[in-house]
Amino acid sequence: MMIEPATHVDLDAIDEIERHSFPQPWPRSAFEAELTRAIARLDVARRPAVAGFCNYWIVADAGEVHIHTIATHPDHRRLGVGAALLGHALAQARAARATIATLEVRRGNAPAIALYERGGFRTVHVRARYYQDNGEDALVMLSELTP
Ligand SMILES: CC(C)(COP(=O)(O)OP(=O)(O)OC[C@H]1O[C@@H](n2cnc3c(N)ncnc32)[C@H](O)[C@@H]1OP(=O)(O)O)[C@@H](O)C(=O)NCCC(=O)NCCS
Repeated sequence: MMIEPATHVDLDAIDEIERHSFPQPWPRSAFEAELTRAIARLDVARRPAVAGFCNYWIVADAGEVHIHTIATHPDHRRLGVGAALLGHALAQARAARATIATLEVRRGNAPAIALYERGGFRTVHVRARYYQDNGEDALVMLSELTP
């Protein structure tokens, strides 16, 4: 598996994974915009086709990385793709001198919570009824990044 920055050529594959992964997917144009935003990173995992992606922001001034989305194509799940994408994002963040990583996740998203806990995150706050579509709570998770 290879993890590298996405390019415009990858947007169709990212869009397909997004639509397979979320009830309210982001539009393709949102990922296209991420390619142009200085603080945004959009990585893909290739096996060799695009099997997953990770979108995150490295806010170097704040010493923080915020993980927005990790998604693996349903045909490639439980093969280590998500863990590899998360590990890569955190390594990039450490290289940019970030010292904390944050994210939000739905309370009911057990696979993602397990992935994040395995990656060193812990829940530090609950945002009650944060998600408007179904009133689900958001867990705010944090990981301190050791150099
Ligand atoms: C969450 C998600 C990204 C995991 O991707 P993945 O490539 O299947 O994850 P990995 O194979 O790297 O799994 C790493 C670890 O996460 C945990 N995990 C992953 N999927 C799990 C599941 N369905 N049930 C329980 N634990 C799970 C396990 O600890 C796993 O390690 P193991 O396989 O050795 O037990 C994937 O299920 C997905 O795309 N879900 C839909 C999108 C989403 O909800 N993203 C997160 C919110 S942005």
